[in-house]
Amino acid sequence: MPKLHVVVGSTRPGRLGLPIGQWAAQAAKEHAGFDVELADLAELGLPLLDEPGHPRAGLYAHEHTRRWSATVDEADAFVFVTPEYNSGPPAALLNALSFLYGEWLYKPVGFVSYGGVAAGLRSVQVLKQVATALKMMPIPESVAIPFVFKHMGEGGFRTDAPLEAAATMMLDELLRWTEALRPLRLNPPPAPAAPPAPGAPVSRV
Ligand SMILES: Cc1cc2nc3c(=O)[nH]c(=O)nc-3n(C[C@H](O)[C@H](O)[C@H](O)COP(=O)(O)O)c2cc1C
Repeated sequence: MPKLHVVVGSTRPGRLGLPIGQWAAQAAKEHAGFDVELADLAELGLPLLDEPGHPRAGLYAHEHTRRWSATVDEADAFVFVTPEYNSGPPAALLNALSFLYGEWLYKPVGFVSYGGVAAGLRSVQVLKQVATALKMMPIPESVAIPFVFKHMGEGGFRTDAPLEAAATMMLDELLRWTEALRPLRLNPPPAPAAPPAPGAPVSRV
């Protein structure tokens, strides 16, 4: 079975991202198309990007990067669970994306977003742009949760039928893309012959 990592993109104490991520991981387990794991950025504790080399070289100076690299590398697909902060993505999620390159290639990603009236969708729009620079495939089917506080109760996150239906649609499509992109994941472009020197510009084209 393909491996799906549900990435909790917010890290602050008391974040809603954790119960929502746990719900998304549970929905993915019940979907039964993936081998599912929760990847919690707060638990991972990455510092702000502190690697001297460009991630395309895949040569990492720090143990925290090697750990994150191994986690992302083993996944075939992702669900990013994201709030929006000031109409954009949380810094922790952008930072975690920037740490790596080859580990993201040709992997599809679905989004579970939440917030006020905009349901976190402005964050998703930015994340889609960044994801395509990493040759990921951001899929259109998503779960968007407006007025998220209405879904929070004593027992944590309260789902409902429309959210469950949206999660199923997203996971069905994510599985199709995961399978369709497998040949590309098995045949990635060659790594750069020599790692770029720290600070050297790296062309993407
Ligand atoms: C720094 C900050 C900026 C926020 N900006 C937005 C925003 O632009 N749009 C929105 O709908 N909610 C915004 N909110 C409210 C969040 O939707 C709400 O706090 C949510 O719980 C944040 O996700 P988290 O609990 O996983 O951190 C903001 C919250 C914080 C802490």
